[in-house]
Amino acid sequence: MMSADLTVIVLAAGKGKRLRSSLPKVLHRAAGRPLIGHVLNALSSLPSLRTAVVVSQDGDAIRAAAEGAGLHGLEYVVQDPPNGTGDAVRIAVEQLEVSGGLVLVVNGDTPLIRPETLRALVDLGGGEGVATALLTATVEDPKDLGRVIRRSDGSVDRIVEARDAAPEELQVSEINCGAYVFDGALLSELISKLDRENAQGEYYLTDVVQLMVSQGQRVEAHLGSTEESFGVNDRKDLANVGAILRARICDRWMEEGVTIVDPSTTYIDASVTIEADATILPGTFLEGSTTVAAGAEMGPQCRIVDSEVGPGATVTYSVVVGSVLGPDSSVGPYASLRAGTKLGRGAKLGTFVEAKATTLGEDSKANHLSYLGDAEIGRGVNVGAGTITCNWDGREKHKTVIEDDAYIGSDTMLVAPTHIGKRAATAAGSVVRGDVPDDALAVGVPARIIEGKGNKMGRVDRSSNDEKDR
Ligand code: UD1
Ligand code: CA
Repeated sequence: MMSADLTVIVLAAGKGKRLRSSLPKVLHRAAGRPLIGHVLNALSSLPSLRTAVVVSQDGDAIRAAAEGAGLHGLEYVVQDPPNGTGDAVRIAVEQLEVSGGLVLVVNGDTPLIRPETLRALVDLGGGEGVATALLTATVEDPKDLGRVIRRSDGSVDRIVEARDAAPEELQVSEINCGAYVFDGALLSELISKLDRENAQGEYYLTDVVQLMVSQGQRVEAHLGSTEESFGVNDRKDLANVGAILRARICDRWMEEGVTIVDPSTTYIDASVTIEADATILPGTFLEGSTTVAAGAEMGPQCRIVDSEVGPGATVTYSVVVGSVLGPDSSVGPYASLRAGTKLGRGAKLGTFVEAKATTLGEDSKANHLSYLGDAEIGRGVNVGAGTITCNWDGREKHKTVIEDDAYIGSDTMLVAPTHIGKRAATAAGSVVRGDVPDDALAVGVPARIIEGKGNKMGRVDRSSNDEKDR
């Protein structure tokens, strides 16, 4: 592969009018990743000299998305206003001072393109005497895609955009996929010769093909798969592309030894990793930076976001966000684990339990109906049904500490800050304030009425109205 002098230009400045969105098109997500992230990812295996992304003025969001996808070292070229793909490439070629080598241009809205296809295109474009290599595909319904017009000898003559095409040209089923390899010297010479005399009044990159041919240069086409040619122009395309990416992701994990009972109802982000012998049951969403270890069983019906799932852990009908689930721990059914929840080996949060910023040590359990917030719970602790850590006094959050082997009776209110000692117990229905020493039992609810003290610490203050997220 002639890669030593390859410059890559990714086009991402278009407005994406057909999506009717305030978000730039290439930042819309499929399989948990911005469209441009998929394209950049496919490009990352090419040994390019430099990769530049053409963005419009709000390029910062695209830059952030690229960095977020772990893609660093990219250059950015601003095209403002976006006057067409030809204009975008002209600006990039000028700014990067391209004067030779090979230039690979890829549309940022074609997330299904595969690395091996891009490599094949670069090989073709780098061939002796080849001025341009295009990626094409044949599709049943080419809609508004550019048609590849060939001469009687089969050679490529030009690309015609659908809106400029004659009726017989619209019948052509071979389309331009929006990926090209150009001879850098020829491209930099011809890119400034484009005009905007067409139906859209834009500079078309595709017109470079005709200019090449009219100069007697050789243009070759690499016929790729139909699937890879799918671009995202509207919300329907976005859904279709998302479904294909998800299917690919499930295929990949099944090949790696993961059991996925029903791929059609399994939603795994491109950024997730799963070990062999994990089982994913129907209706499961694995998102963000989530990792799932061997022997874990996810689902049915759960959503795991940015979490670490240990070996043998199970999650059923639950939502788990920003949490760490230790080996053989278990969650659900119907639990909500919010950020900062950590379960030790064999720990359990059961039915209708909500947890936040809470650690449960080895074999500790809250089996039913609890709220555990800002709590540090040791090992072997049993948290009875209906227990609540009253962590919020209306102004501030406070911590609850429960030491090893403590027993929290059903319906205990732990009014934080509180500290429950080792092997200590609380009786059913108790309201516990302050500390309970090791081995002690806390009993009772002297629910006395104290006049005028309801609005403790000025909790209700209509002037500030800053009720916080509990
Ligand atoms: C383009 C091709 C068409 C091809 C199709 C494949 C042209 C003129 N047409 O059409 O032949 O079949 O892709 O998907 O190139 N962009 C910029 N600056 C601009 C305009 C667009 O950076 O001024 C970017 C967009 O963000 C997008 C890409 O270029 O990522 C393609 O633009 P888009 O408007 O989607 O082109 P298509 O109409 O799909
Ligand atoms: Ca497009």
